Amino acid sequence: APSVLFDNHGRPLEYLRLAVTDRCNLRCFYCMPEEGIKYLPKQELLTYEEMERLVALMAGLGVRKVRLTGGEPFVRRDLVPFMDRLSQLPGIEELTLTTNGVLTAPHVPELARIGVKAVNLSLDTLDRARFAAITRRDELPQVLATLYALLAAGIRVKINAVVMDGQNTQDLLPLAELTRELPVDVRFIEEMPFNGGSHEATPATLPWNHHRIREHLALNLGELTPVPTRPGDTASHYTVAGHQGRLGIIAAYSRTFCGTCNRIRLTAEGGLKTCLYDQGVLDIRALLRGGSSDEQVAEALKSAFRHRAANGFEAESQRPLHQLSFESMSTIGG
Ligand code: GTP
Ligand code: 5AD
Ligand code: SF4
Repeated sequence: APSVLFDNHGRPLEYLRLAVTDRCNLRCFYCMPEEGIKYLPKQELLTYEEMERLVALMAGLGVRKVRLTGGEPFVRRDLVPFMDRLSQLPGIEELTLTTNGVLTAPHVPELARIGVKAVNLSLDTLDRARFAAITRRDELPQVLATLYALLAAGIRVKINAVVMDGQNTQDLLPLAELTRELPVDVRFIEEMPFNGGSHEATPATLPWNHHRIREHLALNLGELTPVPTRPGDTASHYTVAGHQGRLGIIAAYSRTFCGTCNRIRLTAEGGLKTCLYDQGVLDIRALLRGGSSDEQVAEALKSAFRHRAANGFEAESQRPLHQLSFESMSTIGG
């Protein structure tokens, strides 16, 4: 196995989040405005060949886990054959994806066949009307079909629910209750201001921060027993007596887990981010299309990784505009 690369704060590079598209078939209001975002022209997206080259190169630098994100990954054509090729790259031990589940169910048997062991499913409510209000699309039945198809195929599922004041706080307990009978992790996420437009709370004024989410769950479900976190985990996990699955809380806006952050990101247009909160530190697409060799690209990646911000607050403060909300999560990949 290749030796692992460490950043300027002693954190290993193990995990690549690769946004395969900026397009999405939902319009979740915490991610983009109703009219959508201005999508990239196709030639500005990395091609599958370019992405495969980059993943192979990063595997050579010690990356062993790849998560495909978007936008919605299944909106891009021929996703599963691409995943199949990635899964065969030497060094890639874990290939997974984060999906909204609308188009996913029919692909589940193929995912199982190519060896995908775990999928993260975005689902903010079990109520059909509120699902339609939050995502601006009436697609809850398709998402639930995906959940059950994944479980039936023996693929581990983590449900991601963004906690939104005044929108879905009544849904936290029904979502948490899924863990009683199903072997799923349900993770509640602090809402972040990557929504393509409007003004947002600061971490200090966030109505539903990780403390409040935990208190709310504990008050209603009984004791939450903490599971030790592993370095690189975004979620604090808890077990509840008698429940098959675990609960998780992701302090995505409070940014409590940056000290062990083991990941980098590639946006759909081939921008490298060494933190979710940075503005992009390197235009990899320009390197690739400018004819750089693998060695040159690897050197550029190493150099970027050796100049990481210490945490998400520092990354945010280094942006030219201290304004995150005009970026959409659909372009960044989460
Ligand atoms: P696992 O690999 O299963 O642990 O999932 P993950 O938490 O790395 O990824 P996922 O795509 O499921 O993201 C869950 C939530 O965590 C989303 O809201 C992401 O935006 C957020 N998230 C993921 N990585 C980071 C990160 O590095 N920093 C911050 N602040 N949030 C993150
Ligand atoms: N705040 C927190 N999480 C978000 N996600 C998308 N937008 C936001 C936001 N503004 C989540 C999605 C998905 C994951 C990749 O990021 O629900 O599960
Ligand atoms: Fe689409 Fe995910 Fe953004 Fe919702 S959060 S609009 S599902 S990319």
